[in-house]
Amino acid sequence: MNNNIEGKVVVITGASSGLGEATARLLSAERAVVVLGARRVERLKKLADELTAKGGKALAIATDVTKRDDVKKLVDSAVEKFGRIDVMLNNAGLMPQAPLERLKIDEWDRMIDVNIKGVLYGIAAGLPHMKQQKGGHFINVSSVAGHKVVAGGAVYCATKHAVRALSEGLRMEVKPYNIRTTIISPGAVATELPDSITEPDVADRINKFYKDVAIPADSFARAVAFAISQPEDVDINEILFRPTRQEL
Ligand SMILES: NC(=O)c1ccc[n+]([C@@H]2O[C@H](COP(=O)([O-])OP(=O)(O)OC[C@H]3O[C@@H](n4cnc5c(N)ncnc54)[C@H](OP(=O)(O)O)[C@@H]3O)[C@@H](O)[C@H]2O)c1
Repeated sequence: MNNNIEGKVVVITGASSGLGEATARLLSAERAVVVLGARRVERLKKLADELTAKGGKALAIATDVTKRDDVKKLVDSAVEKFGRIDVMLNNAGLMPQAPLERLKIDEWDRMIDVNIKGVLYGIAAGLPHMKQQKGGHFINVSSVAGHKVVAGGAVYCATKHAVRALSEGLRMEVKPYNIRTTIISPGAVATELPDSITEPDVADRINKFYKDVAIPADSFARAVAFAISQPEDVDINEILFRPTRQEL
C-alpha cells in the first residue's frame, strides 16, 4: 500500500546533522526523494551517497538559508531534477542561548536570520511551485520554546514563537491552493544544537539538561513521516512532543 510518502519530493534545510539528517534517512527508507540543503556540503554529499547506495534518490545542494538566492536554488534544483516539490521542511536553526544582559547581539542577529528569515525564504522558494501544482506541504520546525519563554532564552524563544505565528498565517492563506502546513515543536532531542551555545555556563547547564532528558532524533523524523503520510485531505497543523522525562 502506498504510504503517501513514497515518490514525494521532500526538500530539507539543515539536513547535514541532527533532526534534518534523521528525517532524510527515514523518509528515504520510505521511498521519498530527498533534496538536502545545509552549508556543510561534504556531510550532505556523504549522506546523499549513502542513501543512493541503498537504492534511494537524493540530491545535496550547498545552502545557506540566510541567503534567499541559495534557498531558491535549493528548491528550484529539486523541481528541475525531480519535476516538483511535495514537501518543504524548514528545519535549519541554531540556539545560542544567553541572558539578554550579556548583549550577544551578533547571536541575536544570527538567530533571527536563520530561525526566522530562513523559514521565510523557504516559504518564498516553495510557495510559487506549490501554488502552480495546486498542492504541497510546508513543515516548519518550532520548539517547546515556541510555546514557552524561558529566562536566558528570550531570543531563541522569540524566533520559535515567530515560526508558529508565520506558520498559522500561512496555513490560512494557502487553503485555496490545497497546501498543507505543519508546525513541529520538539522538546529536547539529542543533536548538535547545544554546540551553538557560546557562553560556557549556559552550555554546561543545557548540556546537562540534554544529557539527562534528550531522546534520539528519529523521534522527530517519525513525527514528520506521520504528518506527511496522512491522506491529502488531512492537514496535521501542529505536533508538540517532548521526551517523557522532560518537565519543561
Ligand atoms: N534538538 C532539539 O532539542 C530541538 C528542539 C526543538 C527545536 N529544534 C530545532 O530543530 C532544528 C534542527 O536543529 P537540530 O536539533 O537538528 O540541531 P543541529 O544538529 O545543530 O542541526 C542544525 C542544522 O541547521 C543547519 N544550519 C544552521 N545554520 C544554517 C544556515 N545558515 N544555512 C543552512 N543550514 C544551517 C546546520 O547545517 P550547517 O551547519 O551544515 O549549515 C544543521 O544541519 C532547529 O531549527 C532547532 O531550533 C531542536
